[in-house]
Amino acid sequence: MLRIAAFFLSMLCSFGLIGQGVDNASIKTQAPPSNYSDHFYNKGQTDMKQQTLSIIKPDAIKKNIIGPIISRLEEGGLRVVAAKMVHLSKERAEQFYAVHKDRPFFQELVSFMTESPVLVMVLQGDEAVAQNRKLMGATNPKEAEKGTIRADFATDIERNSVHGSDSIENAEIEINFFFSQDEIFHS
Ligand code: CMP
Repeated sequence: MLRIAAFFLSMLCSFGLIGQGVDNASIKTQAPPSNYSDHFYNKGQTDMKQQTLSIIKPDAIKKNIIGPIISRLEEGGLRVVAAKMVHLSKERAEQFYAVHKDRPFFQELVSFMTESPVLVMVLQGDEAVAQNRKLMGATNPKEAEKGTIRADFATDIERNSVHGSDSIENAEIEINFFFSQDEIFHS
């Protein structure tokens, strides 16, 4: 009798029905996906609440088309959760575009970005980084799809009306470059 009971007990164990320790892996908090920075993840940022940095550049400011550009962004599902006008110094513009410092257009880009104030904004929404880039269109307005901001408003590859972060990681860096957390509206 004892042998039969021991047999059933060993069978149940081998099928994993009893005696199994808690699987630690299954109760661990899931690590954030690698493309999420701690900043976004810790703030409970889901794809629905992704944020990106947008700049309305001096050519668009001079053309007085802030409104139409923001309308495109809002109609495209993005929400402005922070905004301010900033007149960049040469040093700040060089710092912001430091990644391009060895490119032949760097000095012209810095000079253009400092010729008038710009409007910097934090945009929030579903897949905000990618959505903003889709709404902006290609860097060169000549290559941008019709209906995009750059195709419809920009002058040329340098005076291309808008800037948008190119990745979630850079969005965090660029947002922190211009805004403190208490300047961002958290809906
Ligand atoms: P932006 O998205 O702000 O990022 C870098 C900027 O450099 C880009 O938009 C353009 O304004 C500018 N840029 C990129 N390529 C060129 C180029 N070949 N000539 C002049 N400006 C450029």
